[in-house]
Amino acid sequence: MAALALADRPAPTVAPAETRIGVANLDKVYGSGDGKVVAVSDVSFEIRRGEFVALLGPSGCGKSTILNMVAGLIKRSGGEIRIDGAPMEHGQVNPKVGYVFQRDTVFPWRTVEQNIGYGLEIAGVPAGERAERVRRAVRMAGLSGFESKFPSTLSGGMRQRVALMRTLIMKPEILLMDEPFGALDTHTKLEMHRILLDIWEEERQTVLFVTHDLGEALTLADRIILLSARPGRLKEDFAVTFPRPRDAVALREAPEFGRLFSHVWHSLGEEFRKAQGAAS
Ligand SMILES: Nc1ncnc2c1ncn2[C@@H]1O[C@H](COP(=O)(O)OP(=O)(O)O)[C@@H](O)[C@H]1O
Ligand SMILES: [Mg+2]
Repeated sequence: MAALALADRPAPTVAPAETRIGVANLDKVYGSGDGKVVAVSDVSFEIRRGEFVALLGPSGCGKSTILNMVAGLIKRSGGEIRIDGAPMEHGQVNPKVGYVFQRDTVFPWRTVEQNIGYGLEIAGVPAGERAERVRRAVRMAGLSGFESKFPSTLSGGMRQRVALMRTLIMKPEILLMDEPFGALDTHTKLEMHRILLDIWEEERQTVLFVTHDLGEALTLADRIILLSARPGRLKEDFAVTFPRPRDAVALREAPEFGRLFSHVWHSLGEEFRKAQGAAS
């Protein structure tokens, strides 16, 4: 897929070690009084330019809450968030940041190509350039032949590919993803991993990828930030040093994959048990 970049813009030429997302002492409390939920407590981490980081933890531990605060979609209760060194406030829209939601959020009344080109249309990109960029995105996502189809006629995996490309076509330098493949079956999920890894090899976005799926985190990320059960606190930070480019299917057979899986699983398993205990 080397020849299929989304656009011909040159790669950014800034020092590779620069911090793009800085989160310090982040807290989130929902509600008040008896209904108060402490969702996130004192979370700090930094993500450097071009790094692919997975935020991993059991369901309900505060992953989406953290991501939504980084995206400026919800207010934080305490702490600080910086994007490229600048303080991030709730409600700010940062054009460098793209967000892919947990559920595919395509427009049912638009075709595949109209969905993928939506952001470009809003941004006023001329029709000729738009068509060319959409065509490339369609090819990268393996959606050729489906350009004129409506979402209701597509599988869940195809719809999620449309949603993914609709965000990626805007060339976000920072990509926030909230369990984007969580609703897909294993086979479709692996196919999405392959597509995402191919695109990321080309674009090297800075990625914060939320998941509760350890296999997914190991396949995609350079680093795994493990959160505790609620309230989400930073528990451990694991480096994932498998060589790139990675083959999402073959990687799972590698002995190193198994070793790192067991290592992180031990720690994640403790948090799953705590989360189960709190729910029962
Ligand atoms: N709008 C909200 N109001 C009250 N509680 C919420 C709200 N959103 C999330 N929570 C609670 O905060 C905790 C963390 O939620 P969330 O960030 O969605 O977790 P995760 O994404 O890790 O599954 C959960 O206990 C959830 O019920
Ligand atoms: Mg969530």
